[in-house]
Parts: sequence; structure tokens; C-alpha cells
Amino acid sequence: MKAIVVTDQAAGTAGMKLVERPEPLAAINDVVVEVHASSITGDELSWPSTWTDRLDRDRTPSIPGHELAGVVTALGYGTTGLSVGQRVFGLTDWYRDGTLAEYVAVEARNLAPLPGDVDFAVGASLVMPGLTAWQGLFEHGHLRAGQSVLVHGAAGIVGSMAAQFAREAGAYVIGTGRTAGRQTALDFGAQEFVDLDNEALEDVGGVDLVFDVLGGDIAKRSAGLIRAGGTLVTITGPTDIRPTGGLTIDFVVVPDRAQLNEVVQRFRAGRLRPNIGHIATLDNAVAAFNPTSRVKGKTIIRVRP
Ligand SMILES: NC(=O)c1ccc[n+]([C@@H]2O[C@H](COP(=O)([O-])OP(=O)(O)OC[C@H]3O[C@@H](n4cnc5c(N)ncnc54)[C@H](OP(=O)(O)O)[C@@H]3O)[C@@H](O)[C@H]2O)c1
Repeated sequence: MKAIVVTDQAAGTAGMKLVERPEPLAAINDVVVEVHASSITGDELSWPSTWTDRLDRDRTPSIPGHELAGVVTALGYGTTGLSVGQRVFGLTDWYRDGTLAEYVAVEARNLAPLPGDVDFAVGASLVMPGLTAWQGLFEHGHLRAGQSVLVHGAAGIVGSMAAQFAREAGAYVIGTGRTAGRQTALDFGAQEFVDLDNEALEDVGGVDLVFDVLGGDIAKRSAGLIRAGGTLVTITGPTDIRPTGGLTIDFVVVPDRAQLNEVVQRFRAGRLRPNIGHIATLDNAVAAFNPTSRVKGKTIIRVRP
């Protein structure tokens, strides 16, 4: 099968190569999925899981990409809950070969059925940002109606999803980002916007929850805005930053079938808009992940026409 591989960590996305690889086999409780649409997550090429297995042994050449939408073509020993021919979408294991390929083997429990009226490219685009935003706001941040939430990077891939979910849940949503992101963030549901290049974050006042995608100094300053009992949720990795009288949670997104169902039903009902920037073929994927100018929104690889 055709697949993108990486072998050189220092090279980043420029080191991606389109090659021939053997088709994967379904292990116990796996399915094999014929990939129709796929993508990579932000800086996954800098994560150890792209380069080594769980025992820290080199696993290159590895196939990146852990988000997919496609069709089940085989079931492993003991696999239940999905059937051959079924449309599916979901998140695959960070430590296994991924989805920038014509086929991928993945544990069935990581996938959810993709309704027939949802395009594969849309399905793939909802997976990572949908699950990350949902888990950050509701599982870790315990966001409730009437609370206020500061969503950093609200024009971005994860932030735009978080702004939509939070607004729909009845929260007051303050988005942040660069000057150029203002209208996009407001269009995705933020009721206010702080231009971090030109406006003072501190003027926001108190909030119940911060959903952080930027880290560093911005995360640190945000902690000072959190009311007693509130939470800083960050997806940028472990941190020592703690709001006074509050909690900090950093997490990495996990697969969840029920949450994928929630996300896709919101899309079908017109209550959620994906943030897709560019769609390319697998043959053009390396160029698509190495654009000459900044692409806003998610780059999706349509593996099959
Ligand atoms: N832990 C997890 O499970 C998890 C899951 C998904 C993603 N992530 C990580 O989360 C981060 C965000 O991912 P994403 O896909 O949402 O990225 P993204 O689409 O680039 O979103 C980031 C947003 O923040 C803006 N921004 C970046 N730096 C800024 C700054 N210094 N000041 C103001 N605005 C700034 C960006 O604007 P511009 O576009 O103008 O730069 C963009 O709108 C990445 O580091 C990614 O690896 C973690």
C-alpha cells in the first residue's frame, strides 16, 4: 500500500516520504480500515510515540497521522461492535503506525460509526479537535451553563471547536488569539475576543475555566484570572502553573466512541462547524504538510477520491 513514513526526527514534516509499505494485519480486537480521509495532530512528529514503541525501542520508519475516517475491511480475532463494510471514524494509537496510509489497523473500541450523510473529510476533521475540546471542557474542566471560559487560540483548530461546544453548553465564551483571528473566533461562537498582540489579557477579569492551547507565559498569566475553585486546562504538556485556590489539568486526548457520537450528531444537526483549511491527496500530502505560507484550519488528506 501507499503510505507516508518518517525516519528522521530532526527533519520534522520535511522528512515525510511517500513509499510502499506492507498492508497491516488485524490483531486481537482490531479492525483494518481502508482509509478515506486522514490527518496529523499539530506537533505529533515531536512526540516520542512517533519514534519509539512503549519500551522505547526505535520503531521507524513510522507512519504518522492518528485521525481517520474510512471503511472497515477486516476484523481481528474476537473483534466485536463493528462490521466489515461499516463507515467509521476515530483516533488511532499514538504508538502504532498511523493513518497517512491506504490502510491502518486499529482497536475497534477507538472508533465510532460515521453516519452515511457525513463526508469522510469532515469525519476525519472532527476527530482530534472534537475529542480534545470535549474532554478539556467537560471531563476535565467540568464546564456548566452560566460559567465563563477563556478559550485561547479560539480561531485555531482545537480552540474553534472548544468555543462552539462551550457556547452551546450555555457558557460565556471569551476567545483569544492574534489580531487576524478576531472575526473567525467570533464566528465560531466567542462572545468577546482578546487580541493577545495588542490587548491586555488581564482586562478580562475573572473566569471559571481557562482552556489553554498556547502554554508558556500566556498560560501563566491566565492562571491569575481564574476564580477560586476554577480550573486551568492545558493541552500543551505538563506545567507547574497553578491558579490560586484552583486546579491545573494537562492531558493528551484519548479515543472515546460515545464522545465521537456526540460530536458527529452536533455536526449533522448544524450545531457544529468543522475548521478545515486545506484538502490534499495522499500523493500531495508531503507538500500539504509543508506549505509555503501558513494554512489556517486543519489540513485533511483525502486518501481515496
Ligand atoms: N494534548 C493534546 O491532546 C492535544 C491535542 C490536539 C492539539 N494539541 C496541541 O495544541 C496546540 C494547538 O493545536 P491546534 O491544532 O489548535 O493549532 P492551531 O490551529 O494552530 O491553533 C492555535 C491558534 O492560536 C493562535 N496562536 C498561536 N500562537 C499565538 C500567540 N502567541 N498569540 C496569539 N495567538 C496565537 C494561532 O494563530 P495563527 O494561526 O495566526 O498562528 C491559532 O489561531 C498544538 O501545540 C497541538 O500540538 C494537543
